[in-house]
Parts: sequence; structure tokens; C-alpha cells
Amino acid sequence: MKDILLIANWKMNPGTAKEAQELFETVANAVEGVAGVKVVLCPPFVYIPEIVRAAPSVALGVGGQDCFWEGKGAFTGEVSPSMLKELGCEYVILGHSERAKYLGETEDMVQKKVAAALSADLKVVLCVGENEQTPADRENLIVVYEPEWAISTEGGRAADVSRVAEKVAAMRKTFKAGPILYGGSVDSSNIASFLKEAGVQGALVGGASLNAAEFISLVKNAAM
Ligand code: PGA
Repeated sequence: MKDILLIANWKMNPGTAKEAQELFETVANAVEGVAGVKVVLCPPFVYIPEIVRAAPSVALGVGGQDCFWEGKGAFTGEVSPSMLKELGCEYVILGHSERAKYLGETEDMVQKKVAAALSADLKVVLCVGENEQTPADRENLIVVYEPEWAISTEGGRAADVSRVAEKVAAMRKTFKAGPILYGGSVDSSNIASFLKEAGVQGALVGGASLNAAEFISLVKNAAM
């Protein structure tokens, strides 16, 4: 059986490199020996090099939270898939609803990013909301069912397990092989039911990944 995938989306947190290092070290030490779960940390870009330096020794994956669709060039503020790869990232989150909400990212832009990231040999964690189409299988593609309204900062209500199960079953019709994850207010108290009752192979975790003790319990509960 494949490992359960837990992707920690730190978003634009924590506020300092020192706090990021502390969060990383506490989590890394505690989850190192937990079998059956692959933990992937996705910090803000600026914290990635320090974390990558320490991460290989503790078997954690590291990913970016976004990337651009070109390899280099006059694209102020952007980071390319190959830059992430060179830095030591294995994963990249794409299509998060906050990027559409705050930055006007469109479906077309997301598609271009997915193609570029897969070509750069990154594993893509693609967020799919309520109304978007589920993509067909592509190697290295991981799909997350993450309704915007279920994100903790949007109201703090996780989707019902039965609703997630239904949605995942529908998504499986086109996305047959790769992992399907759930995202939206996942925490240590509900992770086990999403894994056991909704048929997902893991979760994308925002708020709960910023509290070391809470995230460590979440990882342990996922492994049980
Ligand atoms: P949340 O965020 O776990 O805080 O709801 C998830 C996400 O936005 O990816």
C-alpha cells in the first residue's frame, strides 16, 4: 500500500525564518519514525533552502506553493518550476483558491503551470474546487478536492465526510490512478475519518500545519 500523503501548506507563515526553522525542527523530529505516512512541507519560497538542507535526512518532502509556467525571463516576482526543482523541491501546490481570490489566477494560467511543473519533473498537488473539472491521469499528478468554503480561514467548517466520499467517487471516473486528497479544515480530530470513510489517500493541511503539536497529532492519527 502507498503511503498516506500529508501536504502542509504553510501559506505566508510563519512570520520569521527563526519560527519557520523551529516549526520544521519540532515537526521533523516527531514524525521521523511514523510509518505509512509521507509528510511534505510547503513553506514560503524564502524558507525553502534552509528546510531542504535539513529535510533529506529526515525523509520529509519539500514543495513550493506556486510556480510560473516559463523557465526564466522577464516575469517580475515569479519563480520557475526548474528553479524549485534545483532548490531541492519535489512537489509544488498549484491552483489554490487563494491565488484566484487575491491574485486573479485563472484556470488557463493554472493549466499552463501544471504542464510546466510536470515537464520540470515536479510532483503537482493540484487543488480542484467545487465546480472545476477533475483532470485525467497524468504521471506525478496529485489532485486535491478542496472546496473554498471549507478552508479554515473562510469559515472553519470541514466538508462532511459523506460529501467528500461522493465527490471523490465522482472524481475517480476521470482521475483513475493517482492519489486524491481532501483539503479544508483538516485537523487531528477529523483526519482519520476522511482517510477511512471518504476514500482519500491523504490531505492538504493549512492552519493545523502551523501548530507543531497539532500537526504531529494529525500525522500520528493518520498513521493509525
Ligand atoms: P485549512 O487550509 O487547512 O486551514 O483549511 C487548507 C488550504 O487552504 O490548503
